[in-house]
Amino acid sequence: MIKSPRGTRDLLPPDTALWNFVEAAVRDVFRAYNFHEIRTPIFESTELFARGVGEETDVVAKEMYTWYEGADPDTTLLGAWYQQRHARYAGTVRRTAAARQHISIDISGGSDTYLVELKRRPDIGVVDRLEARKHAWLASHPDSKPPKLILAVPTSEADRAKRMPLGEVILEALSVEPGHESPLSLTLRPENTAGVVRAYIEHKLWDRGLNKLFYIGPQFRRERPQKGRYRQFYQIGAEVIGPAPSGSESPARDAEILELLATLLDRVGITNWTLELNSIGCPADRARFNEALRQALAPVVEKMCADCQRRAVTNPLRVFDCKVPADQPIIETLPTITQFLDEDCRRHYEEVKSILNAVQIPYLENPRLVRGLDYYTRTAFEFTHGALGAQNAILGGGRYDGLSEALGGPAAPGIGFAIGEDRLVLALTESAELVLRKPDVYIAPLGAGMNREAARVARELRRHDLVVDLGDESFRLTKSFEAADKMGARYILIVGETEVAANAFALKHLASGEQVTVPRAELAQRILQK
Ligand code: HAM
Repeated sequence: MIKSPRGTRDLLPPDTALWNFVEAAVRDVFRAYNFHEIRTPIFESTELFARGVGEETDVVAKEMYTWYEGADPDTTLLGAWYQQRHARYAGTVRRTAAARQHISIDISGGSDTYLVELKRRPDIGVVDRLEARKHAWLASHPDSKPPKLILAVPTSEADRAKRMPLGEVILEALSVEPGHESPLSLTLRPENTAGVVRAYIEHKLWDRGLNKLFYIGPQFRRERPQKGRYRQFYQIGAEVIGPAPSGSESPARDAEILELLATLLDRVGITNWTLELNSIGCPADRARFNEALRQALAPVVEKMCADCQRRAVTNPLRVFDCKVPADQPIIETLPTITQFLDEDCRRHYEEVKSILNAVQIPYLENPRLVRGLDYYTRTAFEFTHGALGAQNAILGGGRYDGLSEALGGPAAPGIGFAIGEDRLVLALTESAELVLRKPDVYIAPLGAGMNREAARVARELRRHDLVVDLGDESFRLTKSFEAADKMGARYILIVGETEVAANAFALKHLASGEQVTVPRAELAQRILQK
């Protein structure tokens, strides 16, 4: 049996009614705040996310669905390796794995064993994979000396690879034919902010002043699926972006976004949310903070998980993303960003809070909230909800004043958020009753030639905004009654030869059993009554 891929799911009725209710309600709220819809592609260039979201983030380093357009670059890379490197090693080459984005080979039989990864776009995961392969190899060859680990990448990627914490891994650069060097690499969007800012730059949206945009749609991350966490999930998001003179940098925008979110959650019926708020300052503040973190981590990092050890070197701020329970007591002792904010950032943050106080939106300051994406500056926030369990962040967002420039655009401060729609719906199902509109009337055509007549009556009734369903002229009356009952229709209407001749129809109220004959012209009115 073919099933939906792991981490994806079918949304079926009656649940889809709840999704539609949520989407209609948020569209109403967005209208009241003068937001307009934007739809960007579901896939974008990989580079957009690498540059926009950040190479060190879990999302980009581990979770993206990426492929190449055109030539299969990895096979080209393997060809280059055979040509340029193979002769240097004695032993038999065995290809042990080939995914679309990496090829693993073993070379054994000579005096040394080599474990090789060929990778078009090296990321930190490839070092982990080599380590894991080494451990597996040692477990199955307990008396042998450890294998040597090799990472082979195209020359164009060598500098980037050198900056990764390679440990004992030996780096080899391969020259690859021009044209195969950097084929078009595409990625299913893991989030929508980078895409919106790309569109802002591509279409010169600064001409419109302040842009208030919203989107609803699927996003893709290769995460370990669990309740509230999927590989295809849906976000309802919004972005406010424009040149600084349009007011995009003002703390009033931050407060407006947060107040909108409180309104939106109230509107759909989510109570018991907590707004967690922080300011993560500007890049200069963060450089000083990262330095302080490096120092604080140096004596303790040995005791932390492998991810944290790497983050401590490359991007210490990301240590706060760690979910490993054993690391939490250490993370608790680290300095927080608050004491590193400069005067402007501090004032901006104070103003956001003072407007929130004025409009009576409660919030909880969390100085350890740094958010998992690299583009954030200043205000960062999350709304959490108790009923959701481990995946309790129902939405997250913040300011990204430097993102447009990082993507090659003009200065364009911005702020936005994305709600996890799956989680929002989950929180609602814990509390709300599903309200599905059932058919007002089920039409039962009775006997040959009656499908035609039934179709005419159905068309007339639907014009009056009635929900109408209908059976088939081959059904016996009992079968039609059963079908009407099953779908919860209020009335059943019988369309037989006698009724058509009289132009009046038998209409039966299913709950009370009351049956009347109603002239065709009065049918809709009668059904609408109740
Ligand atoms: P994010 O925190 O990565 O931010 O995602 C926002 C929300 O999407 C999360 O709070 C969560 O509810 C939901 N979400 C994330 N991953 C999954 C998953 N695998 N399964 C189900 N739900 C998930 C962003 O994406 C930013 N673009 C938000 C933003 C907009 N910042 C500024 N503008």
